[in-house]
Amino acid sequence: MLAGPPRLVSAVTIFLLLVLVWWYFQLIRRDVPLTYDHSPPPEIPSKTPLTPSISSVDPLDFSIPLKFQPGTPKPPGSKYSRVLVLPKTIEEEIGWIHAELPDLPLAVYEVDNASAQYRVPKNKGREAMVYLTYLIDHYDDLPDTILFFHSHRYAWHNNILMGLDSAQTIGRLNDARVARMGYMNTRCHQDPGCPDWIHMDRPAIDFDFFKKPEEIYYRKAVWEELHPGAPIPPALSQPCCAQFAVSRERVRQVPRERFVHYRKWLLETSLDDQYSGRVFEYIWQYIFTGNAVYCPAANSCYCDGYGICFGGAVKYAEWFAIMDERNKLYDELNVYNNEKKEAEDKGRKFEFTKEAQEKMKELEDEIRKLDPQMEKLRNEAFKRGEDLKSREMETETYDDTHIWDHLNQS
Ligand SMILES: *[C@@H]1O[C@H](CO)[C@@H](O)[C@H](O)[C@H]1NC(C)=O
Repeated sequence: MLAGPPRLVSAVTIFLLLVLVWWYFQLIRRDVPLTYDHSPPPEIPSKTPLTPSISSVDPLDFSIPLKFQPGTPKPPGSKYSRVLVLPKTIEEEIGWIHAELPDLPLAVYEVDNASAQYRVPKNKGREAMVYLTYLIDHYDDLPDTILFFHSHRYAWHNNILMGLDSAQTIGRLNDARVARMGYMNTRCHQDPGCPDWIHMDRPAIDFDFFKKPEEIYYRKAVWEELHPGAPIPPALSQPCCAQFAVSRERVRQVPRERFVHYRKWLLETSLDDQYSGRVFEYIWQYIFTGNAVYCPAANSCYCDGYGICFGGAVKYAEWFAIMDERNKLYDELNVYNNEKKEAEDKGRKFEFTKEAQEKMKELEDEIRKLDPQMEKLRNEAFKRGEDLKSREMETETYDDTHIWDHLNQS
């Protein structure tokens, strides 16, 4: 009984409601012109680019880590174009480059010569100013491999197995490794610089002022000026001394604005030159790989990087153990020789005791045995490095394709 009439009332009510709604919307429609805003549309500011920028990410927002991809080397045997970027003063001699590497294109920055072909805005920040200026000025015009070196040919921090010689290092350097890794510190030896070298999180009492005079200058404030927004890493490490190679592709993965920003810091910082330049010594790896700590294995660096292959890290370490032993014997022998020299410099007649003579002969014999042994192993390593398979065996791999290949080798 309740079901019939209310439904009828409902239908009538709904009909009336619909009419009301229709009438209301008609009214609104008529009202539209009355509420229409006649003011002109807002003007588009003339500075707004007509096309949206390719990346909406702020290139100087260091809180967003750059994602670097490994590069693909050219087929074996291909040529790579190169440039050697080199800071020098008017006084410094670079004849060795013309003599040893005559075909290598150069970008020589004579930092104290106002009419030099390649110039820096200010002679400040040592080699860092030169490297950054090259990257800024040639960002759109780079060869395959960009080499950053100092002007001196021989240095204690160069590679021991290449006679501490930059000419050999540059001559043998494998561009394919640079292409693959993007960034390659040209020094293979880890000490000084690796691992866990510069700490920003230490109390002053634990800083090593002797070995790492620059460490105390890497403070939070400097980090944040250089990389605003980026988390402070526990340590900064890479082999020392700021000589390295970068691929064009890798440079181009870093926005140019960052190089400009770094150079601005270098121009403006009140840090003494010897420290501001050194700050960069331990951040190039961060700039170009995103890793605060970047310490490739020395044997891989030598083998893949220069074709000097000992057949693994253990064999490599064995050679250097022999070298250390040999150097120890040599130092011991030198104590005797210096004693004699000192006495004779003072005009005293000097005779070794019989005991000393025997000891010296013993040391000389030992050294005479070790030298050819080292030479033989070194030559074998150079020979082994000519074989692509051997090189591949000592090259870093990130997949598991050959991970078990060497399990049963002694
Ligand atoms: C400065 O550089 C120019 C251009 O390379 C060169 O001609 C000139 O000799 C240099 N000046 C000095 C003092 O070496």
